Amino acid sequence: MSNQLRVGVLTISDTASTDPVSDTSGPSLCRLLEAESRYTVQITAIVPDDFKAIQKTVTAWCDDLDLHLVLTTGGTGFGVRDCTPEAVLPLLERQTPGITHMIFSKSVQITPYAALSRAVSGIRGQTLILTFPGSPKAVKENFEVVAKLLPHAIDLVR
Ligand code: MTE
Repeated sequence: MSNQLRVGVLTISDTASTDPVSDTSGPSLCRLLEAESRYTVQITAIVPDDFKAIQKTVTAWCDDLDLHLVLTTGGTGFGVRDCTPEAVLPLLERQTPGITHMIFSKSVQITPYAALSRAVSGIRGQTLILTFPGSPKAVKENFEVVAKLLPHAIDLVR
């Protein structure tokens, strides 16, 4: 049995959903993951900032694909259409506030704009779910904060 960690990368953006080529955050996240040999990006998708579309995709990836990790990018801000936290929160069986706080505390040391993300994280079944902001810069900074502890966190969930 492979001990690869199977990951889903979901881009949440109205713009990217109509113009996939404009999605830079999703591919950045995939590159960051694939730079580490333990991760396999099993599935990627782009959905608009739509509550139901987000919930449908995240639920299917956790419950049907049984991924180890789902990373979303985008829709965490204050914009009227931003609804990633509202969509993901009800799907979480357990929240992981330590991870969320760690990302915030490290990120605000880099930029005060990090306070404009309403990101959440948690566990559904045996899948860890983290919601990152929607820029390649933020995605890289967020991933770097959690990269070291992610494999152990995933181990604990299984
Ligand atoms: N976090 C980090 N680490 N670095 C960043 O550059 N950008 C912020 C914030 N979080 C940022 C960050 C900005 S400018 C916004 S508006 C919010 O994430 C929300 O982004 P989103 O709506 O694309 O999810």
